[in-house]
Amino acid sequence: MLSGKTVLVGITGGIAAYKICELIRMFKRVNANVRVVCTPNALNFVTKLTLQNLSQNEVGVEEFNIPDFKPEHISYADEADVMVIAPATANTISKLASGICDNLLTSVACAFHKPVIIAPAMNCNMWQNPIIQENLKNLKTYGYTILEPESGFLACGYQGQGRLCALEKIFDATVKKLSTKKILTGKKIIITAGGTIEDIDPVRYISNYSSGKMGIALADTAYELGSDVELVTTVPAKKPYVVTKVKSAFEMKNAVMEHFSDADCVIMAAAVADYHVKEKSAQKIKKTNDDEITLTLVKNPDILKSLCELKTHQTVVGFCAESENLLENAKEKISKKGCDYLIANDISRKDIGFSSDYNEVTILSSAGVVKELEKADKYTIARQIFEEIYG
Ligand code: CTP
Repeated sequence: MLSGKTVLVGITGGIAAYKICELIRMFKRVNANVRVVCTPNALNFVTKLTLQNLSQNEVGVEEFNIPDFKPEHISYADEADVMVIAPATANTISKLASGICDNLLTSVACAFHKPVIIAPAMNCNMWQNPIIQENLKNLKTYGYTILEPESGFLACGYQGQGRLCALEKIFDATVKKLSTKKILTGKKIIITAGGTIEDIDPVRYISNYSSGKMGIALADTAYELGSDVELVTTVPAKKPYVVTKVKSAFEMKNAVMEHFSDADCVIMAAAVADYHVKEKSAQKIKKTNDDEITLTLVKNPDILKSLCELKTHQTVVGFCAESENLLENAKEKISKKGCDYLIANDISRKDIGFSSDYNEVTILSSAGVVKELEKADKYTIARQIFEEIYG
């Protein structure tokens, strides 16, 4: 199953380290090449000789044990296809989140730019510590997969969440990472996300309820499928790919246009305001004695339409948010805008779309309905959209 693949197993100093002997055997049984790096403390729980015998490879612990011209942390990182850090202690998690490289394992992880799976295991109070949770959140943000520990009786005598998750779960997550077909390798994709913000004065603005979640799920998924990604977003995002933060529809248009000629695909998942305030006040607008105030709005550029008019080789994909007559409006919209695909979703439903983690969409091309995607989390929807366009 994994022949030809190298799994790099990183073991840190927690009692669950003994379980990793079995995990190594599981990888070996499906013909993976297994390399092991340990923190010095891991060897208090499991011996180097055991790990060497099971992995049938030398085990790395010392950072400055450099046998040839290539520093060891670089050669481990170059050789492996995936890195699995299990058990991951609070200490190692925090070092990884801060970029600290004070042993071979943390140095290898820092130099490793392929998928990393982290399976934490620790005392339940350590697990609940907000600093550890914040560090895990940061690692997730940068694309690390975290397999949460399970609840139960812990080796330290406590009852709670902190036990290393089942080895099968770690094994399955690793196989899944290695079997993901990188269908977007070599592609450059620009994705927009979030609702644009149109200023009224220095303290007030017009916007909408878009959370940006669908656009971010598309960008994360495109990156995982091997694409070069630029996310043009109104909501802040820390990502391992290029993120361009914008505010208004005009700023979004400029950012998208800047790299459009080099792009293979643009997906306009952002909720772009159709209008902006004609005369933005430089000062805070003061309340007057009148009961009414009039703001004059003027049309924003239609970014999607402009892209479709300019496009040469690019695939241009729009989203279509409708609160009624979804398909009818979507069909009209795709012909008006001229895009290759339109992803239509019903924003009147509370369980999908705006702000929700879920969506249910219909993919249309100019020829008509291509596919209806059942309700699923936005990451699953994103993957299905790419599979439909590039699969
Ligand atoms: N869009 C755009 N520029 C705009 C408005 C919308 O690029 N000024 C894009 C959106 O990012 C989306 C698609 O056009 O991909 C459809 O957006 P939607 O809000 O559904 O439609 P509108 O064109 O704004 O039309 P209406 O508001 O009348 O439904």
